[in-house]
Amino acid sequence: MTDRYAVIGNPVAHSKSPQLHAAFARATGQDLCYEAILAPLDAFAATVRAFIASGGRGMNVTVPFKVEACRLADTRSARAEAAGAVNTLVFSAAGIHGDNTDGVGLVADLRRNLGLDLRGKRVLLLGAGGAARGVLLPLLQERPAKLALANRSADKARRLAAEFAARAPGWVADAGGFDELAGRCFDLVVNATAASLEDAAPPLPAGLFAPASCAYDMVYGKGVTPFLRAAGEQGASRLADGLGMLVEQAAESFCLWRGMRPDTAPVLAGLRAA
Ligand code: ATR
Repeated sequence: MTDRYAVIGNPVAHSKSPQLHAAFARATGQDLCYEAILAPLDAFAATVRAFIASGGRGMNVTVPFKVEACRLADTRSARAEAAGAVNTLVFSAAGIHGDNTDGVGLVADLRRNLGLDLRGKRVLLLGAGGAARGVLLPLLQERPAKLALANRSADKARRLAAEFAARAPGWVADAGGFDELAGRCFDLVVNATAASLEDAAPPLPAGLFAPASCAYDMVYGKGVTPFLRAAGEQGASRLADGLGMLVEQAAESFCLWRGMRPDTAPVLAGLRAA
């Protein structure tokens, strides 16, 4: 019988996951089907359990259910625990396992598609919401020389940093508001705020971008966002959107389910061409 997978969300019709996983399955010769399931806002757990009962093997979870999926899981990976959110569910006789591939997806995009090795680099992460929380631990695991966290509400950044300092021994928690960044300089600046969704840029001081630095916006499908435009004007030499992260997090989920990692380059090239 063909193994069943799905992405669950509300809304979910816009999700590219069915297209991505169909491409991965074709390329790796895996016999699986992958659908999109719209769950009522008050019936996430019941919808997951119905999918398991009908033979489902795994799910991706998207807005607004990632935190609820974390609670629903019987067991969780350390990175899902740290993120407080789950984007991948694996079903087995042992129960529901929750993982989060968003952060490793970002790191894989930086490394594989952008050729960026974070070891020894100065990294700035903007934001302190769910998106920032999801990528913080995998970024720290790349052993950058520095990782600074900055957010519009400085206190929220400081609280997040204090929490992660306990999870990442050796990290000197470095967090505050945007104005506290004045006079500092970074090799990579990742925008994990929701500003681009509002067509705005975080108000950053000038001079943040080192020569040959990269500006990375985690959103995709928005073209050159105000953050990326400002970064380019300030001297960032590489500008990247989150499309590569989307493809890589999907590949990491596929690997958790099927035990093999698909080649992402042709799939990403296809999406870019479209
Ligand atoms: P997500 O899950 O996308 O991270 P979230 O948890 O609501 O969403 O967090 C949104 C993040 O974007 C927060 O860091 C927020 O800053 P505050 O904590 O100060 O609210 C940030 N954000 C939203 N709009 C922004 C804007 N126009 N400029 C800068 N930061 C913004």
